[in-house]
Amino acid sequence: MTAARLGFIIGALSVPRRDTGYLRCTDPRPPSPPPPPPLMSPDKANLTEKFAAFNEHWSPKIVAELNGQQVKLSKFKGPFIWHQHEHEDEMFLVHRGSFRMEFRDRTVTLNAGDFLVVPRGVEHRPVADEEVHVVLFEPAGTVNTGNVRDARTIENPARL
Ligand code: NI
Repeated sequence: MTAARLGFIIGALSVPRRDTGYLRCTDPRPPSPPPPPPLMSPDKANLTEKFAAFNEHWSPKIVAELNGQQVKLSKFKGPFIWHQHEHEDEMFLVHRGSFRMEFRDRTVTLNAGDFLVVPRGVEHRPVADEEVHVVLFEPAGTVNTGNVRDARTIENPARL
């Protein structure tokens, strides 16, 4: 490269940009195409109908999945076991009935329409005097008994 050529390049680079103060995008590529349509059109579901489709207690069913999270339905009756989830926050929303969420330092009663998020790492035990229908929202793969494995552990819940 000649000295004259180099001087020209340096001169061009040092010209102040007065117009906008920012660099315009001059990418010659066409804009990216729109994303493909979803494979299935959205369809509605009904909580009452979904809850009517199973009878077991403490056996969550997956009814929806989005953004790495799952919506599960579970029927509680009686006391569950003390456990915690090391990495997952867990939301409980009561659809029908009521139950108590026991923590080591307090107890919270949830009635229909109430919801609660149990933060990761917090020990909890749901207890239901009568059958209660609960919607759970938690990361996919969250195990119902958390850090405990016993007869009620369900590693792979069924889908409804
Ligand atoms: Ni839990």
